[in-house]
Amino acid sequence: MPSKIAQIRLVGSHFEVYEPCDDSFALVDALLADLTNLLEHKPKLCMEVGCGSGYVITSLALMLGQVACGTYYIATDINPYAVKVTSETLEAHGVHAELITTDIASGLEKRLTGLVDVMVVNPPYVPTPEEEVGCDGIASAWAGGENGRSVIDKILPMADKLLSDRGWLYMVTLTANNPSEICLQMREKGYASRIVVQRSTEEESLHVIKFWRDSDRLLEASETGTVNKIVPTRVIESLLSHFPGISLRRSGNSKSS
Ligand SMILES: C[S@@+](CC[C@H](N)C(=O)[O-])C[C@H]1O[C@@H](n2cnc3c(N)ncnc32)[C@H](O)[C@@H]1O
Repeated sequence: MPSKIAQIRLVGSHFEVYEPCDDSFALVDALLADLTNLLEHKPKLCMEVGCGSGYVITSLALMLGQVACGTYYIATDINPYAVKVTSETLEAHGVHAELITTDIASGLEKRLTGLVDVMVVNPPYVPTPEEEVGCDGIASAWAGGENGRSVIDKILPMADKLLSDRGWLYMVTLTANNPSEICLQMREKGYASRIVVQRSTEEESLHVIKFWRDSDRLLEASETGTVNKIVPTRVIESLLSHFPGISLRRSGNSKSS
């Protein structure tokens, strides 16, 4: 199976479409690393937000298959050229996904709320001036605004809405995105997390984080009527231990230890 993935060809391209890069490869490697769990999970609906060239959704569809377990695939991108290139990549590899040009999953909430079993995202995560976020052209593939979090912070609540009770989210983050804080935010929504792949290059340190609903946490939330906002120190310590060199930002004190 991995050899099939390694052979994914870039059949189409467009100067405004993101070509698979280290972050795309890290995300697919994370899916491969978790493949046994994914196959056992038997997701009915898999979704990619920001599909670019289609490398990730095509890889996922090849890994999990379609006919055998009846999995349905949906991918979105804000860039219509990306949707076109993704359609060519899928077709060239004999797999199918429904493709939608939209901002994250706008317009799909009614149809998909609580139904997505696996969501994969390699978002625009590079810290840039806020004005570059969502602008036309290839820059929207990486421009992430302050701390690279502008698009990520819109994707997370949407993921929470669309994921099923047994839904999993795999997301690429950069150290500058403050991944430990992202994990804490998701924890407040009732998700556990773990790093599936960590990769450092000279330029950046990437983490692919998997989030899943933590039944203990959800129980705690339903018993109190709300999620307890006070995160125990042991949880913070455990999260920080995932991210050496990262400390939690505290208001009025941003010093790292
Ligand atoms: C870093 S690229 C990743 C592309 C591809 N998934 C990969 O891993 O090679 C980010 C993608 O997200 C898309 N994107 C950016 N903002 C978006 C938004 N608000 N809604 C949907 N897609 C978005 C970009 O057009 C781009 O294709």
